[in-house]
Amino acid sequence: MGHPNLAAAVAQIAAVKEYQQAFRAVFGRPVNGPDLLRAIASYERTQLSFDSPFDRFIAGEKNAIDDSAKRGWELFNNQARCNKCHALTDTQRDVTYFTDNDFHNIGVFVVKHNVVALARQAEQLVSSGDKEAVDRAAIQTDMSALGRFLVTKQEKDIASFKTPNIRNVLVTGPYFHDGSQETLWDVIDHYNKGAGLQNPYLDEDIQPLALTVRRWFMNRMGRELSLCVHR
Ligand code: HEC
Repeated sequence: MGHPNLAAAVAQIAAVKEYQQAFRAVFGRPVNGPDLLRAIASYERTQLSFDSPFDRFIAGEKNAIDDSAKRGWELFNNQARCNKCHALTDTQRDVTYFTDNDFHNIGVFVVKHNVVALARQAEQLVSSGDKEAVDRAAIQTDMSALGRFLVTKQEKDIASFKTPNIRNVLVTGPYFHDGSQETLWDVIDHYNKGAGLQNPYLDEDIQPLALTVRRWFMNRMGRELSLCVHR
């Protein structure tokens, strides 16, 4: 939430009448830190989905997903190269969270921003040692486009972002850290084109996919991803 600590978050929540009433109704007490954490944990538990058609398919129920979705799953792990980042390793399929827990520059934002010039500007700020100013810049200015670089100061991390979990992805739009892609179609289009070739820090695993750009491909990918939604 961009707060420096829990007390600041509690103070902001406690100032809102609806939250005061909701905390009273649920916990029978005024807003406080431990209950705020309980509320967030309860919310996050509702986000788990491990009984989707996809999960049943992986567990051995062969007809839990249709043939088109099965072909989509193959694309995900082969030609479309999604597994290069949305899996723990290149060779083992990830059927749980679809992330390598690593950071990559996949070309988001670089079309709109000259990240190299921004990085030079940021270097000065970062070397000033003023952590709060860096945090503010990361959240409130165009420097957010620099991603992990603001933390590590390493050139290779310019415009890198953490690979997100893509479970439930059908209901978590808009997509990418800046919400710049509205639909899954747009996301797949981004990957299929291999965005930002003029971007010197682009991850080597982002390449134009060279798959014939046909709607059937996009539809299958979209469908495959949507199968991880609990229903
Ligand atoms: C080089 C690593 C890499 C490859 C290859 C890759 N991704 Fe990603 N993916 C990422 C990163 C990093 C992000 C987060 C980008 C951001 O937030 O700006 C992301 C974000 C996404 C998102 C948005 C999730 C959200 O909630 O915002 C979707 C959907 C997605 N990827 C699907 C795919 C699919 C499908 C493929 C294959 C066609 C693929 N990815 C290939 C690294 C990769």
